[in-house]
Amino acid sequence: MNSISIPKHNWDSSLYQNKHAFVWQYGEDLLQLLNPKAGELILDLGCGTGQLTEKIAQTGAKVMGIDSAATMIEKARQNYPHIRFDVADAKNFQVEQPLDAVFSNAVLHWVKEADKAIACIHQALKPGGRIVAEFGGKGNIQVLSQALFSAMESIGISQPQTLNPWYFPSIGEYATLLEQQGFEVIYATLFARPTPLAEKEAGIANWIKMFAGAFLVGMTAEQKIQVIRNVEECLKPTLYQDGTWIADYRRIRILAIKV
Ligand code: BEZ
Repeated sequence: MNSISIPKHNWDSSLYQNKHAFVWQYGEDLLQLLNPKAGELILDLGCGTGQLTEKIAQTGAKVMGIDSAATMIEKARQNYPHIRFDVADAKNFQVEQPLDAVFSNAVLHWVKEADKAIACIHQALKPGGRIVAEFGGKGNIQVLSQALFSAMESIGISQPQTLNPWYFPSIGEYATLLEQQGFEVIYATLFARPTPLAEKEAGIANWIKMFAGAFLVGMTAEQKIQVIRNVEECLKPTLYQDGTWIADYRRIRILAIKV
Protein backbone atom coordinates (compact mmCIF):
# COMPACT_ATOMS: atom_id res chain seq x y z
CA MET A 1 0.00 0.00 0.00
CA ASN A 2 1.25 3.44 -0.88
CA SER A 3 0.37 5.74 1.94
CA ILE A 4 0.34 9.33 0.81
CA SER A 5 -1.58 11.30 3.31
CA ILE A 6 -1.78 14.78 4.66
CA PRO A 7 -4.49 14.57 7.29
CA LYS A 8 -6.57 17.73 7.26
CA HIS A 9 -8.82 16.87 10.14
CA ASN A 10 -7.40 16.36 13.61
CA TRP A 11 -9.42 13.34 14.62
CA ASP A 12 -9.58 12.53 18.32
CA SER A 13 -9.61 8.74 17.97
CA SER A 14 -10.50 8.09 21.64
CA LEU A 15 -13.50 10.42 21.46
CA TYR A 16 -14.47 8.77 18.18
CA GLN A 17 -14.14 5.25 19.56
CA ASN A 18 -15.77 5.88 22.93
CA LYS A 19 -18.54 8.36 22.20
CA HIS A 20 -19.37 7.85 18.54
CA ALA A 21 -19.55 4.07 18.37
CA PHE A 22 -22.82 4.39 16.46
CA VAL A 23 -20.75 5.15 13.33
CA TRP A 24 -19.51 1.58 13.02
CA GLN A 25 -22.42 -0.04 14.87
CA TYR A 26 -24.75 1.09 12.07
CA GLY A 27 -22.12 -0.03 9.56
CA GLU A 28 -22.42 -3.66 10.72
CA ASP A 29 -25.56 -3.87 8.66
CA LEU A 30 -23.60 -2.92 5.57
CA LEU A 31 -21.43 -6.00 6.00
CA GLN A 32 -24.37 -8.10 4.83
CA LEU A 33 -24.27 -6.25 1.52
CA LEU A 34 -20.51 -6.82 1.30
CA ASN A 35 -21.02 -10.53 2.05
CA PRO A 36 -17.29 -11.24 2.50
CA LYS A 37 -16.02 -14.73 1.76
CA ALA A 38 -13.06 -16.57 3.26
CA GLY A 39 -9.90 -15.89 1.27
CA GLU A 40 -11.19 -12.75 -0.48
CA LEU A 41 -8.86 -9.73 -0.55
CA ILE A 42 -10.73 -6.75 0.85
CA LEU A 43 -9.82 -3.16 1.65
CA ASP A 44 -11.67 -1.22 4.33
CA LEU A 45 -11.42 2.34 3.01
CA GLY A 46 -11.61 4.86 5.86
CA CYS A 47 -11.41 2.19 8.54
CA GLY A 48 -11.34 4.56 11.53
CA THR A 49 -10.46 2.62 14.66
CA GLY A 50 -10.87 -0.73 12.88
CA GLN A 51 -14.02 -2.29 14.35
CA LEU A 52 -15.59 -3.16 11.00
CA THR A 53 -12.24 -4.23 9.57
CA GLU A 54 -12.08 -6.79 12.37
CA LYS A 55 -15.63 -8.00 11.58
CA ILE A 56 -14.57 -8.55 7.98
CA ALA A 57 -11.44 -10.41 9.13
CA GLN A 58 -13.60 -12.72 11.25
CA THR A 59 -15.21 -14.07 8.06
CA GLY A 60 -11.84 -15.41 6.91
CA ALA A 61 -11.35 -12.68 4.31
CA LYS A 62 -7.88 -11.14 4.04
CA VAL A 63 -8.60 -7.56 4.93
CA MET A 64 -6.55 -4.44 5.44
CA GLY A 65 -7.65 -0.97 6.51
CA ILE A 66 -6.60 2.50 5.44
CA ASP A 67 -7.50 5.87 6.87
CA SER A 68 -6.15 9.36 6.22
CA ALA A 69 -5.94 10.09 9.95
CA ALA A 70 -2.78 8.80 11.64
CA THR A 71 -4.53 8.96 15.03
CA MET A 72 -7.21 6.54 13.81
CA ILE A 73 -4.64 4.14 12.34
CA GLU A 74 -2.64 4.17 15.55
CA LYS A 75 -5.74 3.20 17.53
CA ALA A 76 -6.78 0.57 14.95
CA ARG A 77 -3.33 -1.05 15.21
CA GLN A 78 -3.59 -1.11 19.00
CA ASN A 79 -7.08 -2.60 18.83
CA TYR A 80 -6.33 -5.27 16.22
CA PRO A 81 -2.59 -5.95 15.94
CA HIS A 82 -3.20 -8.96 13.66
CA ILE A 83 -4.63 -6.73 10.89
CA ARG A 84 -2.62 -4.49 8.57
CA PHE A 85 -3.57 -0.82 8.82
CA ASP A 86 -1.95 2.00 6.86
CA VAL A 87 -2.32 5.76 6.68
CA ALA A 88 -3.46 6.58 3.16
CA ASP A 89 -5.66 9.05 1.35
CA ALA A 90 -8.88 7.85 -0.32
CA LYS A 91 -8.08 10.10 -3.30
CA ASN A 92 -4.54 8.84 -3.77
CA PHE A 93 -3.82 5.23 -2.90
CA GLN A 94 -2.64 2.11 -4.65
CA VAL A 95 -2.65 -1.52 -3.61
CA GLU A 96 0.00 -4.18 -4.14
CA GLN A 97 -2.45 -6.86 -5.32
CA PRO A 98 -5.81 -6.44 -7.10
CA LEU A 99 -8.70 -6.72 -4.67
CA ASP A 100 -11.99 -8.60 -4.64
CA ALA A 101 -13.77 -5.78 -2.83
CA VAL A 102 -13.48 -2.32 -1.39
CA PHE A 103 -15.70 -1.60 1.61
CA SER A 104 -16.34 1.89 2.94
CA ASN A 105 -18.59 3.04 5.75
CA ALA A 106 -19.34 6.68 6.62
CA VAL A 107 -16.31 8.08 4.80
CA LEU A 108 -17.06 9.06 1.22
CA HIS A 109 -19.07 12.12 2.29
CA TRP A 110 -15.71 13.58 3.39
CA VAL A 111 -14.29 13.15 -0.11
CA LYS A 112 -15.44 16.07 -2.25
CA GLU A 113 -13.24 14.99 -5.15
CA ALA A 114 -15.26 11.84 -5.55
CA ASP A 115 -13.93 11.16 -9.05
CA LYS A 116 -10.40 10.78 -7.66
CA ALA A 117 -11.51 8.30 -4.99
CA ILE A 118 -13.54 6.33 -7.53
CA ALA A 119 -10.54 6.18 -9.89
CA CYS A 120 -8.34 4.77 -7.10
CA ILE A 121 -10.99 2.25 -6.10
CA HIS A 122 -11.42 1.17 -9.72
CA GLN A 123 -7.69 0.72 -10.15
CA ALA A 124 -7.44 -1.28 -6.93
CA LEU A 125 -10.10 -3.84 -7.91
CA LYS A 126 -9.91 -6.98 -10.03
CA PRO A 127 -12.28 -7.04 -13.00
CA GLY A 128 -15.56 -8.20 -11.44
CA GLY A 129 -14.50 -6.80 -8.05
CA ARG A 130 -17.03 -4.80 -6.05
CA ILE A 131 -17.31 -1.57 -4.13
CA VAL A 132 -19.78 -1.59 -1.25
CA ALA A 133 -20.21 1.78 0.40
CA GLU A 134 -22.47 3.76 2.67
CA PHE A 135 -22.22 7.49 3.27
CA GLY A 136 -24.29 10.62 3.75
CA GLY A 137 -26.55 11.29 0.77
CA LYS A 138 -28.56 14.19 -0.57
CA GLY A 139 -30.41 15.93 2.25
CA ASN A 140 -28.16 14.48 4.95
CA ILE A 141 -28.17 16.52 8.19
CA GLN A 142 -30.10 19.26 6.42
CA VAL A 143 -31.94 20.48 9.50
CA LEU A 144 -28.81 20.24 11.64
CA SER A 145 -26.58 22.09 9.18
CA GLN A 146 -29.17 24.81 8.55
CA ALA A 147 -29.28 25.47 12.30
CA LEU A 148 -25.49 25.61 12.39
CA PHE A 149 -25.32 28.06 9.47
CA SER A 150 -27.98 30.30 11.06
CA ALA A 151 -26.14 30.25 14.39
CA MET A 152 -22.91 31.23 12.66
CA GLU A 153 -24.62 34.03 10.74
CA SER A 154 -26.06 35.31 14.03
CA ILE A 155 -22.50 35.98 15.27
CA GLY A 156 -21.54 37.75 12.05
CA ILE A 157 -20.02 34.93 9.97
CA SER A 158 -21.32 35.37 6.46
CA GLN A 159 -21.77 32.49 4.00
CA PRO A 160 -20.80 29.74 6.45
CA GLN A 161 -21.73 27.12 3.84
CA THR A 162 -18.51 27.97 2.00
CA LEU A 163 -16.66 26.19 4.85
CA ASN A 164 -18.65 23.01 4.22
CA PRO A 165 -16.29 19.98 4.24
CA TRP A 166 -19.00 17.47 3.19
CA TYR A 167 -20.30 16.02 -0.06
CA PHE A 168 -23.80 14.57 0.07
CA PRO A 169 -24.65 13.50 -3.48
CA SER A 170 -27.88 12.11 -4.88
CA ILE A 171 -27.95 8.51 -6.10
CA GLY A 172 -28.08 9.82 -9.68
CA GLU A 173 -24.96 11.92 -9.21
CA TYR A 174 -22.88 9.20 -7.55
CA ALA A 175 -24.06 6.40 -9.82
CA THR A 176 -23.15 8.55 -12.83
CA LEU A 177 -19.64 9.13 -11.47
CA LEU A 178 -19.24 5.39 -10.93
CA GLU A 179 -20.51 4.55 -14.41
CA GLN A 180 -18.25 7.12 -16.03
CA GLN A 181 -15.25 5.34 -14.54
CA GLY A 182 -16.18 1.81 -15.54
CA PHE A 183 -18.46 0.51 -12.80
CA GLU A 184 -21.84 -1.11 -13.19
CA VAL A 185 -24.15 -0.01 -10.39
CA ILE A 186 -26.04 -3.07 -9.19
CA TYR A 187 -27.78 -1.55 -6.18
CA ALA A 188 -28.27 1.98 -4.92
CA THR A 189 -30.60 3.36 -2.31
CA LEU A 190 -31.09 6.62 -0.41
CA PHE A 191 -32.92 6.40 2.90
CA ALA A 192 -33.56 8.46 6.02
CA ARG A 193 -31.83 7.06 9.08
CA PRO A 194 -32.59 9.27 12.09
CA THR A 195 -29.58 8.62 14.31
CA PRO A 196 -29.70 8.90 18.12
CA LEU A 197 -26.55 10.53 19.44
CA ALA A 198 -24.78 9.26 22.54
CA GLU A 199 -24.23 11.44 25.60
CA LYS A 200 -27.87 12.48 25.97
CA GLU A 201 -27.95 16.23 26.75
CA ALA A 202 -24.49 16.84 25.29
CA GLY A 203 -25.18 14.86 22.11
CA ILE A 204 -25.41 17.74 19.65
CA ALA A 205 -22.53 19.67 21.21
CA ASN A 206 -20.28 16.59 21.02
CA TRP A 207 -21.37 15.86 17.46
CA ILE A 208 -20.50 19.41 16.37
CA LYS A 209 -17.10 19.26 18.09
CA MET A 210 -16.31 15.86 16.57
CA PHE A 211 -17.63 16.24 13.04
CA ALA A 212 -18.22 19.93 12.31
CA GLY A 213 -14.90 21.32 13.53
CA ALA A 214 -14.27 22.89 10.10
CA PHE A 215 -16.95 25.45 10.87
CA LEU A 216 -15.54 26.35 14.30
CA VAL A 217 -12.01 27.13 13.11
CA GLY A 218 -11.11 30.72 13.91
CA MET A 219 -13.89 31.24 16.45
CA THR A 220 -13.07 32.22 20.02
CA ALA A 221 -14.00 29.75 22.77
CA GLU A 222 -16.91 32.02 23.66
CA GLN A 223 -18.17 32.16 20.09
CA LYS A 224 -18.06 28.37 19.89
CA ILE A 225 -20.14 28.06 23.05
CA GLN A 226 -22.58 30.64 21.75
CA VAL A 227 -22.97 28.92 18.39
CA ILE A 228 -23.49 25.50 19.97
CA ARG A 229 -26.06 26.90 22.44
CA ASN A 230 -27.86 28.62 19.60
CA VAL A 231 -27.96 25.37 17.58
CA GLU A 232 -29.30 23.48 20.60
CA GLU A 233 -32.06 26.03 21.17
CA CYS A 234 -33.03 26.04 17.52
CA LEU A 235 -33.12 22.25 17.20
CA LYS A 236 -34.63 21.30 20.55
CA PRO A 237 -38.23 21.28 19.30
CA THR A 238 -37.41 19.02 16.33
CA LEU A 239 -34.35 16.88 17.02
CA TYR A 240 -34.49 16.36 20.79
CA GLN A 241 -36.78 13.55 21.88
CA ASP A 242 -37.11 12.02 25.36
CA GLY A 243 -33.69 13.25 26.44
CA THR A 244 -31.84 12.13 23.30
CA TRP A 245 -30.66 14.12 20.28
CA ILE A 246 -31.54 12.55 16.95
CA ALA A 247 -29.44 13.62 13.97
CA ASP A 248 -31.33 13.79 10.66
CA TYR A 249 -29.05 11.42 8.72
CA ARG A 250 -29.85 10.27 5.20
CA ARG A 251 -27.67 7.49 3.81
CA ILE A 252 -26.70 6.31 0.38
CA ARG A 253 -25.86 2.65 -0.03
CA ILE A 254 -24.19 1.47 -3.17
CA LEU A 255 -22.99 -1.81 -4.61
CA ALA A 256 -21.14 -1.49 -7.91
CA ILE A 257 -19.03 -3.92 -9.93
CA LYS A 258 -15.90 -3.17 -11.93
CA VAL A 259 -16.71 -4.24 -15.49
C1 BEZ B 1 -22.56 11.23 8.40
O1 BEZ B 1 -22.19 10.13 8.83
O2 BEZ B 1 -23.54 11.34 7.66
C2 BEZ B 1 -21.82 12.43 8.76
C3 BEZ B 1 -20.94 12.39 9.79
C4 BEZ B 1 -20.25 13.50 10.10
C5 BEZ B 1 -20.41 14.66 9.37
C6 BEZ B 1 -21.30 14.69 8.36
C7 BEZ B 1 -22.02 13.57 8.05
